[in-house]
Amino acid sequence: MTGRVTVVGSANVDLVYRVARIPAPGETVTADSVDVYAGGKGLNQAVAARRAGAVTELVAAVGGDDHAQLLVDAVNREGMNPARLRRVDGPSGSAVVTIDAAGENNIVILRGANAALRRLTEDERELVRSSDVLVCQLEVPDSAVDDAVRTALSAGVKVVLNPTPVRPVSAAIIAAVDVLIVNEHEAEQLRVTDMPVPCVVTTLGSRGATLAVSGKPLVRIPARKTFAIDSTGAGDTFVGYFAAGIAAGADYETAAHRASIAGSLSVEEQGAVSSIPTTQTVNDTLHIERVGNS
Ligand code: RIB
Ligand code: NA
Repeated sequence: MTGRVTVVGSANVDLVYRVARIPAPGETVTADSVDVYAGGKGLNQAVAARRAGAVTELVAAVGGDDHAQLLVDAVNREGMNPARLRRVDGPSGSAVVTIDAAGENNIVILRGANAALRRLTEDERELVRSSDVLVCQLEVPDSAVDDAVRTALSAGVKVVLNPTPVRPVSAAIIAAVDVLIVNEHEAEQLRVTDMPVPCVVTTLGSRGATLAVSGKPLVRIPARKTFAIDSTGAGDTFVGYFAAGIAAGADYETAAHRASIAGSLSVEEQGAVSSIPTTQTVNDTLHIERVGNS
């Protein structure tokens, strides 16, 4: 079964500088290379859901600059509808990413066109209503997230929220959320253990993830060993794969396990969108893991 996923979120062009070591304040380091990639949490998560097999659309905004075309092309290439992208004046969202020798990153974001996504159009709301799962992050204004999650709630559409970059989220948004996907830092900042959310997935990087479903014992999702070269977009890959899994009717644990494998594969490739694995690669990896463990 295939599910339908709608992602409401950001699209950024990532300028990725590879450095031996991330500079400290006041320090200058020389980069070994620079690459330009499609990214942004919304776009990354949409591509991940799409590559995981879901029928996926992205509601996002791009600017009037040269970067916009790179983002439109990325959406097009995945078989999503580029006409869904809003075109606004000014720069597209962008990110300066520095990656060190261990694959760890540091990111500076310019919101650009993403800041223009304030409320949804009636057409965009209809898209949300026709989905199995809505996915949001926090790289667009709260008003857009609020509009999207309320629309989903009223239509019985499952809501997955990845509250990153982390900031306080309104009680109204939290009340509409079915699954919250956070890293440890976000879990602590938002005090997620006190939140009335039916399911919380906490990603733990190289230690895998945990799944907390209210009223049930905590489930540990094991990590796959990786050789990390670029962790950019790993969290997004997890979120998109998870959303596609539950949209297709998988239970949370199964969806989280596949998502974890997909995320682990993404850190072995450069870039964000460019590093998101296909379903085939995830299947092959799951197969190898099973054989290896038996
Ligand atoms: O989560 C990774 C993403 O964060 C990058 O693609 C960058 O654009 C920032 O939004
Ligand atoms: Na990556």
